[in-house]
Amino acid sequence: MDIIFHEKSKTFHLYNETISYIMMIMENGHLGQLYCGKKIHDREDFSYLSEKAPRPMTSYVYENDRLFSLEHVRQEFPVYGTTDYRRPAVEVLQNNGSRISEFQYLGHRLIEGKPELDGLPATYTEADSEAETLVVEVKDSLTGVKAELSYTIFRENGIIARSVKFLNEGKESVHLTQAMSLCLDLPDYNYEWMQLSGCWSRERHIKNRMLVQGITAIDSMRGNSSHEQNPFVVLKRPSANEHQGEVYGFSLVYSGNFLMQAEVDAHDTLRLLAGINPQGFDWKLEPGEYFQTPEAVMVYSDNGLNGMSQVFHKLYQKRLARGYWRDRERPILNNNWEASYFDFTEDKLVKIAKKAKECGVELFVLDDGWFGKRSNDHTGLGDWIANPELLPNGITGLADRIEALGMKFGLWVELEMVNKDSDLYRKHPDWILAVPGRNQSHGRYQYVLDFSRKEVVDSIYEMISKILENAKVSYIKWDMNRSITECYSTCLPADRQGEVFHRYILGVYDLYERLTSHFPKILFESCASGGGRFDPGMLYYAPQGWASDDSDAVERLKIQYGTSMCYPISSIGAHVSVIPNHQVFRNTPLHTRANVAYFGAFGYELDLNKLSEEEIVQVKEQVQFMKKYRILLQYGTFYRLKSPFEGNEIVWMVVSEDKKTAIVGWYRILNVVNAAYTRVCLKGLDVDLQYRNSLTGRVHYGDELMNLGLITSDVTAGETESQMKPCTDFESRLYVLEAV
Ligand code: DGJ
Repeated sequence: MDIIFHEKSKTFHLYNETISYIMMIMENGHLGQLYCGKKIHDREDFSYLSEKAPRPMTSYVYENDRLFSLEHVRQEFPVYGTTDYRRPAVEVLQNNGSRISEFQYLGHRLIEGKPELDGLPATYTEADSEAETLVVEVKDSLTGVKAELSYTIFRENGIIARSVKFLNEGKESVHLTQAMSLCLDLPDYNYEWMQLSGCWSRERHIKNRMLVQGITAIDSMRGNSSHEQNPFVVLKRPSANEHQGEVYGFSLVYSGNFLMQAEVDAHDTLRLLAGINPQGFDWKLEPGEYFQTPEAVMVYSDNGLNGMSQVFHKLYQKRLARGYWRDRERPILNNNWEASYFDFTEDKLVKIAKKAKECGVELFVLDDGWFGKRSNDHTGLGDWIANPELLPNGITGLADRIEALGMKFGLWVELEMVNKDSDLYRKHPDWILAVPGRNQSHGRYQYVLDFSRKEVVDSIYEMISKILENAKVSYIKWDMNRSITECYSTCLPADRQGEVFHRYILGVYDLYERLTSHFPKILFESCASGGGRFDPGMLYYAPQGWASDDSDAVERLKIQYGTSMCYPISSIGAHVSVIPNHQVFRNTPLHTRANVAYFGAFGYELDLNKLSEEEIVQVKEQVQFMKKYRILLQYGTFYRLKSPFEGNEIVWMVVSEDKKTAIVGWYRILNVVNAAYTRVCLKGLDVDLQYRNSLTGRVHYGDELMNLGLITSDVTAGETESQMKPCTDFESRLYVLEAV
């Protein structure tokens, strides 16, 4: 890994074994992009890569020059309106009404390792030798606004993390109306664009389309990163697939309004932008003030989508997630939400927990409904004090009873919200986001607290930390069940209202930071009506997230498969729930529900007392299995082999670091008859090792399993009256492969 600056040609070359990233200071002082891709040799001068040609209807920068136009060159920090007509990385509104600016090279510095981002989640290093950071300073001399463009290259893999810090060194205030974290101009557009989209209970489905001239974009304007679009996109060469070929993944470490956009211009250049959504964004910078953008992480891989995902998994698992739980096997939990909803008493909860304990479950989680006067979703949010009618001994009493069973205790909260029917709202009706004189829209009968105000965050912190200090709470599920409307803070002046969405998220991060540092051993799981804020920003504070409110095993195949594009398996909260399933009313076999949920932070979302004795035997086996293999399942190298978006059969697998153990998850949605023989070529095994197949007892070399494949044919290949146990719909199997 190295960062070279060639003085003469004014060229920067950031590279490691995988990637080269080359930029130059152009003749007008702006930073140009020359190359981003597979590692190449360094040379003194790469300026030939900046191609120019005289073209009709083009505007040129210099008088009597028909060559230098920003419309034609690839750039790192482009502005609009000075010959570039594409969407810019930055827009500065000035007091005279102009939005034209001109960011020219001022200087640069190299930093060993990676500096922290003030108040924002970001990837980090544990030793300076893990990464190197280049900060290029560019300045708009007329306004005095300086931008520090930060590029961190990690020693291993094709990872480049970027962000921008703005400093107003001028004499007048300005407004940032666009401040993207990343702009990357690529020389062609022959890419398939992949996004993770959906809605509540159908999060992060994979959607692909080819780029064409014009704009392709995903975004959120909901205040949360959203169920609808995830802040993650992939540019994939059409010939690339899961296992080979060039892909670029872009991930924004942010939990609020975002934009990720590709613009293909008339000459086939592709501009990728990622950052805070400019829609509604307007940040006032007074002289002396600064603004830090969130971080955008790019992963380049020529090993296909699996190669890219594995790099994201490792980076996000080890150098984004933090703290006590980062590397630890995650406790198997039983959450009472689908077991009882709001209908519980202390005794009923203890009864559920007792049965879970009998099955080997380690953590009991009390979900929504324990506080204030919360008997349904109309009341109570904001009053973080246990409801004595339900819990006469408070959270402390219940936690003690759970601990006495030999289990850990966890608690649900939704700290950003308030119901109007709550003591908090009655005391502070002005604490919600609302526009004076206008209707206040609700979501699930709740309103959003103005987390841009420190006193609001302080007061919530006081309330919740009192509980956590007095009760044995080992886990917190932090929920967020509505998007923001009427985003307005009564505490900010008119010309700062465009800051509220971002200040809100900063308030959320601040509360997370305070709670995670004050209670470092509590395991946090993020949640937003399932996966409405399943993003890298949350992962920095909460090493796992509830992936979706849809707990049906078949629906989960798509959700978890899509989620795995960017997020590590250890971060994907996945539970076994009852049948008929509460979201799609489907009946799937108990083993299939577990076989899907094993590939995640595993748990149960039901009252185990309601299962038959036979089922309880199975549950006990499942818990034992998970305890034995969870390190491998959650932290092993994950490969997607067959996609639920492409067929009836789905296969994925994990391999241990030493390659001595692997687990293959095989799933078939609908049953088939007189079917073809099937096999699947495995990945990541040691060619020379021999593995015993747990289902057949046969032993195979790694190269056999990877090249001719694992035979997955079953009783469906042939006549139905065969001797073997018949299959039904929603069948699944786990193959454990241990080296002998
Ligand atoms: C939405 C979450 O996703 C559910 O798991 C549950 O916690 C409910 N909220 C409780 O209101």
